[in-house]
Amino acid sequence: MVTIREATIADTPAIARVHQSSARGLGRTHYTPEDIETWAGSITPERYLHSIEEQYVVVAVEQGEIVGWGQLNAEKSEIVAVYVTPARAGAGVGRALLTHLEEVASNLGCRTLSLWSSLNAVGFYQRYGYQVTERSVDKLSNDEIPAIRMVKTTIT
Ligand SMILES: CC(C)(COP(=O)(O)OP(=O)(O)OC[C@H]1O[C@@H](n2cnc3c(N)ncnc32)[C@H](O)[C@@H]1OP(=O)(O)O)[C@@H](O)C(=O)NCCC(=O)NCCS
Repeated sequence: MVTIREATIADTPAIARVHQSSARGLGRTHYTPEDIETWAGSITPERYLHSIEEQYVVVAVEQGEIVGWGQLNAEKSEIVAVYVTPARAGAGVGRALLTHLEEVASNLGCRTLSLWSSLNAVGFYQRYGYQVTERSVDKLSNDEIPAIRMVKTTIT
């Protein structure tokens, strides 16, 4: 069973590992090797320190192991990240992360949520009611690779 809990500084090495393996393992269907390196090559645990202090970062834990992570910027009504380790893809971890972040966003007063989706994750977000609003942009969080802007207008 997957548990979602708030991330701590001690989780940052595991978050970085999941982030890298997820981009490399699940992104390669839609990105060039160069884009994957832009996306995953420069990730370090330090990257998450500010986010953990300033935003809402969670990890998905199964049998004591971090298998996914997610990030919400409630101030901007933005889902910043949802990443699942390739070995656990397709097992409901992404759903657990996204629905948790949406619930927290709703409790904090967000009525719409926006995000930059990787090209490979568009179907996942559509499954949960997000609609494409912009294409052909080069921005995925901090990483300058092609991404798709998506918005969900009714957060319950
Ligand atoms: C996108 C991602 C988070 C999905 O996580 P996951 O744990 O594999 O997804 P789940 O198993 O929870 O799937 C939930 C539902 O979404 C669907 N789904 C999952 N990934 C999908 C995809 N890429 N396209 C279409 N549907 C998808 C599943 O079929 C499932 O539908 P169902 O409830 O009708 O059976 C995961 O593939 C991932 O980490 N990708 C690489 C990193 C990434 O691109 N993250 C997004 C950055 S913006």
